[in-house]
Amino acid sequence: MKRIALLGATGSIGRQALEVIEGHPGLELVAAASGSRPIDGLAPLTQVGGDLVELLERAEPDVVLNAVVGFAGLPATLWALEHGVDLALANKESLVAAGELALAAQRRGGGLLLPVDSEHSAAFQCLEGRARETVDSLVLTASGGPFRGRTRDELHDVTPEDALAHPTWNMGPKITVDSATLANKGLELIEAHFLFGLPYERIEVAVHPTSVVHALLRFRDGAVLAHLGYPDMRVPISFALTYPERAATPIPALDLASGLTLEFHAPDADTFPLLAFARDAGERGGTYPCAYNAANEVAVAAFLDGRLPFLGISEVVEETLAAVDGAHARDLDGLVEADAAARALAERSLLPA
Ligand SMILES: NC(=O)c1ccc[n+]([C@@H]2O[C@H](COP(=O)([O-])OP(=O)(O)OC[C@H]3O[C@@H](n4cnc5c(N)ncnc54)[C@H](OP(=O)(O)O)[C@@H]3O)[C@@H](O)[C@H]2O)c1
Repeated sequence: MKRIALLGATGSIGRQALEVIEGHPGLELVAAASGSRPIDGLAPLTQVGGDLVELLERAEPDVVLNAVVGFAGLPATLWALEHGVDLALANKESLVAAGELALAAQRRGGGLLLPVDSEHSAAFQCLEGRARETVDSLVLTASGGPFRGRTRDELHDVTPEDALAHPTWNMGPKITVDSATLANKGLELIEAHFLFGLPYERIEVAVHPTSVVHALLRFRDGAVLAHLGYPDMRVPISFALTYPERAATPIPALDLASGLTLEFHAPDADTFPLLAFARDAGERGGTYPCAYNAANEVAVAAFLDGRLPFLGISEVVEETLAAVDGAHARDLDGLVEADAAARALAERSLLPA
């Protein structure tokens, strides 16, 4: 029996994880946490808000599924990695912000780091058991979000409601807006760099509107391995929670007889600059990725509150990245400081000039 601690139990990933856990007799939910919504009775140990690390210490799980949204998930990610507790990671923001510190904690702890993001779960599966020197490059796919095909001029007046209407995935509001700006793919680019140890120039993004191909791996002999499946997060959640068993799920088999068109395009870098800003922040290293994430969180919250236009999100991130020093953080406290400094700068750039 695997003892699971589920952080972010009320969210989109959290609810789907509950379904996966209920459907598998080998998985036992020992603890659950949310940020503010009540979850009494969901698990033997529950917590609303507060210190997630305290909950994990009491719960002694075998696997932590971190499905908290945003930087708030960072202490739990570091705790699991440091303590050698397997981490099923949906909370990409924590790996983006902590990067090398997280990997160092994993090396000390020795537990597994299993990606839940569908693209990274796909890449993990294509890479499994293959020597790293045989890998040429990784391609992450992006649906392109609800504004795919539009120009910048056509995005001046889009509302939160427009941005929240994602064509292929049904997700929480923050990641849905991130998909509309392509910041989500920017975060995923940095996440992939840390997860798979690939340099940024060997990670590509391709727009693939139907979200059926989740990632592709190009190998040095010219072969390309791709991972396909319907866009349903229960698949990567189940893969991570039941690893290495690959338990059955109720997801239907991919139907090829009804026709399947696989279409790929280059992303539109002019309309969606947040992807290039992420690549740049990743390449600069230090706490630039942490600042990218912090500024984006502030800007997305302001957009959802009606305090910032859609195109203002990338402007806030750009201004913040230009103003931070990006110095390396030595520990969690250093990251918390870098995050707070970037948030303060981002808040300032929200104010009218
Ligand atoms: N949704 C997807 O399909 C998808 C796919 C890939 C990756 N991800 C990643 O998975 C993470 C969660 O995404 P989501 O779409 O599930 O978000 P969501 O629907 O907004 O859910 C977020 C969850 O985090 C909880 N939370 C927020 N702050 C917290 C805190 N300080 N302590 C404890 N819990 C806290 C929320 O609790 P309350 O409900 O009480 O606020 C909620 O349970 C994100 O990092 C996202 O990028 C999501």
